[in-house]
Amino acid sequence: MTATAHASRHLHPAYETAPRRLRVARVVRLTETIAHFELAHPGGGALAAYQPGSHLIVTAGDKRNAYSLVGDGLNPMAYGISVMRRGDGGGSDWLHDNLSAGDLLEVEGPRSMFAPILGQRHALLVAGGIGVTPVLSHARAIARAGGTADVVYSYRPGHAAHREDIAALTGAPGIALFEATSVDETLALLADRLAVQPLGTHAYACGPVSMLDSYQQLAAAAGWPKARVHLERFTAPEQDPGSPFTATVASTGHTIDVASGVSLLQSLLDHGVPVPSLCRQGVCGECRIPVRSGDIEHRDLVLSDEDKSRGDTMLCCVSRGPEGSNIEVDL
Ligand SMILES: Cc1cc2nc3c(=O)[nH]c(=O)nc-3n(C[C@H](O)[C@H](O)[C@H](O)COP(=O)(O)OP(=O)(O)OC[C@H]3O[C@@H](n4cnc5c(N)ncnc54)[C@H](O)[C@@H]3O)c2cc1C
Ligand code: FES
Repeated sequence: MTATAHASRHLHPAYETAPRRLRVARVVRLTETIAHFELAHPGGGALAAYQPGSHLIVTAGDKRNAYSLVGDGLNPMAYGISVMRRGDGGGSDWLHDNLSAGDLLEVEGPRSMFAPILGQRHALLVAGGIGVTPVLSHARAIARAGGTADVVYSYRPGHAAHREDIAALTGAPGIALFEATSVDETLALLADRLAVQPLGTHAYACGPVSMLDSYQQLAAAAGWPKARVHLERFTAPEQDPGSPFTATVASTGHTIDVASGVSLLQSLLDHGVPVPSLCRQGVCGECRIPVRSGDIEHRDLVLSDEDKSRGDTMLCCVSRGPEGSNIEVDL
């Protein structure tokens, strides 16, 4: 029997990740700006299991956004997402303003991009602000499996979603919580925890861009191999507009001009070439397209160094070609 056939025998018959509607079972206000939504199968029953650190894609009004699942992923009867109101009238605000218990919500997934490494000996879990959501999922799965983890949680006083949920896990032997409420405290705590982890530890972090940059720098300074330092980004810093280049669509032979300040994704869409997209910031991986030839300036935060060096794929919402070059995309 192949590994795939063997694995599929263990999938629950309700395993379903295509777009579908789930019922909002409960809405809980966790903080002034963060609400928790519990989503259940409209007909009742179990939902698809998922790897810790997975996310759902949610249709929020006229937007589609990713939100991390906060459960341990094993036999879920409901999916829990916690959403921060950004105050910019976007999809997250829409969820806050429009969803109540009983409503139906279109979702896709779960999708996994931030899974734990199989067989890890110990984990260092780092959460900043709303980045606590996938970290809580990892912590819950580790606690359930009887594993061990140090959890670092950095938050602004009064804005700590799920703090009690993480604190509750510390009742299990081997799960410890370390808290910080300022930038200086967070940096000191990170440096301290990175220095004392047992050999074989994998580290996982999710939080604001600046915290993740410090986490990577401190891990490198403490001698951590890159392969043990994992992270998930919800957002990315703004990028420069890039230079003009052209893209040839292999299936039609059409060559498209991609102007400075316009993404390859937008240029393809404007010319009727369908490409899926989600974040448009280079953090979700949704707009990955195959490339036949051409130099690529990779500007995303998803592809590995290995993926990038192969030169046969790119995330077209942010990555581009050098000035005046041509990229042939396999679409
Ligand atoms: C893997 C992952 C997990 C996440 N988990 C969480 C979480 O647990 N909790 C949380 O609060 N946030 C989470 N986020 C962030 C969340 O998905 C949103 O990015 C964030 O909430 C910002 O939402 P918003 O309402 O301001 O954005 P919106 O205004 O809704 O903007 C984003 C939307 O605008 C669309 N868009 C952007 N540019 C264009 C364009 N030029 N043309 C057309 N459409 C465009 C995007 O496709 C997307 O649908 C996660 C993000 C990722 C990638
Ligand atoms: S749309 Fe998210 S990486 Fe391009």
